[in-house]
Amino acid sequence: SGEEHPNTNIITLTRHVLSQQFQLGAQASGDLTLLLTAIQVTSKFIATNVRKARLINLIGLAGDTNVQGEEQKKLDVLSNDIMVNSLRASGKTAVLVSEELEEAIIIDEKHRGKYCVVFDPLDGSSNIDAGVNIGTIFGIYHIRPGSEGTIQDVLRPGSEMVAAGYTMYGSSANLVLTTGQGVNGYTLDAALGEFILTHPDIRIPPRGKIYSFNEGNAMYFHPPVNKYLESIKFPSTGKSPYSARYIGSMVADVHRTLLYGGIFGYPDDKKSKSGKLRLLYEAFPMAFLTEQAGGIATTGTKRILDIVPTTIHERCSVFLGSKDDVLDLKKFYDQES
Ligand code: AHG
Ligand code: MN
Ligand code: MN
Ligand code: MN
Repeated sequence: SGEEHPNTNIITLTRHVLSQQFQLGAQASGDLTLLLTAIQVTSKFIATNVRKARLINLIGLAGDTNVQGEEQKKLDVLSNDIMVNSLRASGKTAVLVSEELEEAIIIDEKHRGKYCVVFDPLDGSSNIDAGVNIGTIFGIYHIRPGSEGTIQDVLRPGSEMVAAGYTMYGSSANLVLTTGQGVNGYTLDAALGEFILTHPDIRIPPRGKIYSFNEGNAMYFHPPVNKYLESIKFPSTGKSPYSARYIGSMVADVHRTLLYGGIFGYPDDKKSKSGKLRLLYEAFPMAFLTEQAGGIATTGTKRILDIVPTTIHERCSVFLGSKDDVLDLKKFYDQES
């Protein structure tokens, strides 16, 4: 026995990303690391506001609606402003797309850098007032060669993203990130103010026992989705049915899916013809993370990362998670065609 010494060799997110970039050799300029530092600061800042929200009158509506027709919460607007200010000031961005802004922001020449960031500043708005987990989602593109930053730099398939991630504001703040070399999870050490590597190389189990859908919409779902749900709730004899878990914050539902496995779905249906989730700043980053963790992300008929966006706020059908579970779901779509 004896006293445990604290770990004197902690791996911070910045240290970890620098070492990954180092492995890439000459191509890495360090700019992505600096951009990620700016994103980390926004997550810390948003996290402190989420914690204090009830005490400093940050609960409730801001009074406006966004381009999707959703009523903006005060935290939606505040988180958006935090991110826009920080990303512009970083000097590393050229184009910004936010759920809360109708138009893309083209960064002025003085502050212009080489990256484009698409983001959902506050995901899970409907859960804010109840203190349930919420988050921030982001995806990063490198501008196209020769471009000075236009909307065309973000109207590209998700497979061209260079990094993506989310921060979940829960019992702790967890930042989960991919730069295309697997998925890693970091937990905010509030005393240090640093994200520390706590979940190295996250791999989704090949099959899970959980399904995560807003089944209240089942009357609108297309037949393949309802048939699939029926198959996991009433399995052939001898097998156990799946457990239902649905938080209603994509970040939290995807986080659990990455760690425990299973399937998360927000399909298009008879009422929402393109689904609800937004392609650029919800579906793409989560699909990138899912694939990097060994899972599958599909619309039911198409790989999500292959979609070429035509507008910045377009929506798409989403199913993602454990390989075998998503393949089971896909079989019902294949039978249709
Ligand atoms: P946001 O709060 O950023 O607008 O996103 C809400 C999204 C997503 O977080 C979640 O998966 C989904 O909406 C929940 O929708 P329902 O309330 O229709 O289930
Ligand atoms: Mn919203
Ligand atoms: Mn969202
Ligand atoms: Mn949002």
